[in-house]
Amino acid sequence: MTTSINIIQPDDWHVHFREDEMLKVVTKYSARVNRRCIAMPNTSTPITSSNQAINYKKLIESNSQSLNFEALIPCYLTDSLNIDDFTYALQNKIFVGGKLYPSNATTNSQYGVNDIKKIYNIFEILEKENSVLLIHGELNRDDIDIFDREKYFIDEELYQIRSSFKSLKIVLEHVSSDYGVDFVKTNNNIAGTITPHHMLLTKKDVFKDEEINPHHYCMPVVKNENDLLSLRKAACFDNIKFFLGTDSAPHHIEDKKYPNSFKAGIFSSPSSIELYTSIFEEENALENLEKFSSINGPKFYNLDINTDYLTLERSETIIPDYTEEGSIKIKNFYANKNINWKASKLDV
Ligand code: NCD
Ligand code: ZN
Repeated sequence: MTTSINIIQPDDWHVHFREDEMLKVVTKYSARVNRRCIAMPNTSTPITSSNQAINYKKLIESNSQSLNFEALIPCYLTDSLNIDDFTYALQNKIFVGGKLYPSNATTNSQYGVNDIKKIYNIFEILEKENSVLLIHGELNRDDIDIFDREKYFIDEELYQIRSSFKSLKIVLEHVSSDYGVDFVKTNNNIAGTITPHHMLLTKKDVFKDEEINPHHYCMPVVKNENDLLSLRKAACFDNIKFFLGTDSAPHHIEDKKYPNSFKAGIFSSPSSIELYTSIFEEENALENLEKFSSINGPKFYNLDINTDYLTLERSETIIPDYTEEGSIKIKNFYANKNINWKASKLDV
């Protein structure tokens, strides 16, 4: 039985650090194992300008408790961006790409895009600058079932984006369905991030006895067994176009109370790489973990692969219920459950 593995240090290509006290508490959990993270720009005031991105990056890095941790910031795309500033920020690597939130698809997406055609000029710039379009791929419309939002987005928007901008690099974030996996596999210049929770939960873990478990509620919502299996297979075996993106999305416990107020988002960063390692082990694919966690992402983003190594050791740990510090209290994903791996050391 394998008792220890060494992998190139991972990166997390999709994570939320928030701001203020929450940012101070959560950032170190990602910096504990990752060298780089894409810090999602859906802060309470979204990150839409080069100045905001520079300040947000500094704030994250200075709170990471790590000397070589790097935050990469995508621009929150809107139809009223300052195009000169956006282009300047792409050219100077201040923005790592642009993030499309269809309006009202998820947390803080009310500033997002209503009519995607209106920002085709921005896709053109991203394509020209050989940058990346990151997409929250869900269409939120009254007539669309919550479980079908990804499929509708692909059918009604993504096919068109793909065929209009053939060399634009696209990441379909937090792929959640077999349909999404298939789209990524069968189209060019598109990759997908996969979260641990979409490979561990199905809708039965969220919707029970007509109630919702708020701690398993996220966007895109987790789906059926066949979707979970397809995501596991994509991460563990079809392992060129898929890479690590936890979508760790902390909310204060008070914002996770069903039925009064419950925001979408699952906080997994305190045990992210350990969760992925367990999944890869269950699938008998430990030898493919490094490609998913540390190689496919930088290749797609055209960035260097990390040079340090991370050791994971077999060691039984129970994930604590909460992450608590000062006035912050967040429910941990997989709380009270046993996990067989522990990241032990960073060889620098
Ligand atoms: C994220 C958040 O809370 O910011 N929520 C979520 O359910 N995943 C936003 C997102 O990535 O959709
Ligand atoms: Zn997210």
